[in-house]
Amino acid sequence: MSEDLEQKYRDAAAKPSNLGEMKDADVVGTAGSPGCGDMLRIWLKFREEKKKGKVIDKASFQSFGCETAIAVASVATEMLAGKTMEEAQALQGEDLSAPLGPLPPMKVHCASLVEEALKQALTEEKSGMISDSEAAAPQAQGLQQSMQDSQTGGRKIVFD
Ligand code: FES
Repeated sequence: MSEDLEQKYRDAAAKPSNLGEMKDADVVGTAGSPGCGDMLRIWLKFREEKKKGKVIDKASFQSFGCETAIAVASVATEMLAGKTMEEAQALQGEDLSAPLGPLPPMKVHCASLVEEALKQALTEEKSGMISDSEAAAPQAQGLQQSMQDSQTGGRKIVFD
């Protein structure tokens, strides 16, 4: 990764947007990377629009992971606002990281982690498995607990 690009990612990770649990979320999606063991969770809240129908009103995330995943999740949660389910479903990792610039091969999985958490949340919405904040809240606790439990491994933990 070039120094410029690396700095962009570092800056985005240092001041991430939409970091933290969303108490009134409609759905939540969690993904873990088997390769590096990092985890990421995305919360989505929907709203109805006259022209587009159901769209993402806002998105937030928590991450137990590397700077790159945090940076991508930050820009991804910004770009998701106003997107329909179909538009969000079509987004790949490279789309989600596009505002920051192309990732080197060894960091592509960091953006994939964000994509997987997003797709998981959208799947929950489609299946109706989690459709209100009461259902999302216990899962949020779960990630927080799993992140805290992992503290013994000396890994970076990021909360708002
Ligand atoms: Fe695993 Fe970035 S190194 S998500």
